[in-house]
Amino acid sequence: MAARTKDTTPNWRQRGGWTPGWEFRRWGKAFISRVPGGIGSFLRRSLYGFAACGKDCLLLEGVWVEYPERLSLGEHVNIARDVIINAAGTVQIDDWALLGPGVIIYSQDHVFDGIEVPISMAADKRAPIRIGRGAWVASRAIITAGVTIGDGAVVAAGAVVTHDVAPNTLVAGVPARIIRERVPAEKGSAGDTRE
Ligand SMILES: CC(C)(COP(=O)(O)OP(=O)(O)OC[C@H]1O[C@@H](n2cnc3c(N)ncnc32)[C@H](O)[C@@H]1OP(=O)(O)O)[C@@H](O)C(=O)NCCC(=O)NCCS
Repeated sequence: MAARTKDTTPNWRQRGGWTPGWEFRRWGKAFISRVPGGIGSFLRRSLYGFAACGKDCLLLEGVWVEYPERLSLGEHVNIARDVIINAAGTVQIDDWALLGPGVIIYSQDHVFDGIEVPISMAADKRAPIRIGRGAWVASRAIITAGVTIGDGAVVAAGAVVTHDVAPNTLVAGVPARIIRERVPAEKGSAGDTRE
């Protein structure tokens, strides 16, 4: 009978350099991410440790940010429930931008070119993402690394955005394609609430 050899492959804790401090911070962050309402939003803004966070930002329950020190939020930014942001490659969200529930913004990818090692063991690559002023990224859209969403652009629900989106443009689908341009509302139309 062949002798059994001991498996010396490092486990996930050894590969990731697990420490009690890491564990403690994760528990704290998970708690803060789930605190509801305005108090929860205040805690997330104050304790996540963003690079910048302007006035009047609302971060609803479940907003989860990896590498918060590389995320910059402008003023009046509105982030709905269960949004996930990975800011490893830096993420900038400009004034009045709106992220719908379940949006995912990921500025970090795995390198998968070589087939010799498992992808989870390979290096990563990072690229900055910017969400422009007044843009709306609707529910469950995914913004991939290196993408800029132009000022006033709209990303429809469920879209996967792999290329830059021009300002004031509506995109939808997987991969996201241009649907139409946004134009100024005509006076008296449903979209114009001015007197
Ligand atoms: C994009 C959206 C706002 C509709 O905008 P609209 O200008 O009224 O667009 P229309 O409904 O006229 O659709 C235009 C075309 O885009 C397509 N389209 C619209 N939304 C789409 C989507 N999410 N995914 C794929 N295609 C979509 C339509 O099928 C239509 O295609 P067709 O011309 O071949 O029929 C809406 O579909 C949407 O995604 N809403 C987001 C809801 C949401 O997440 N709310 C959370 C609030 S933060």
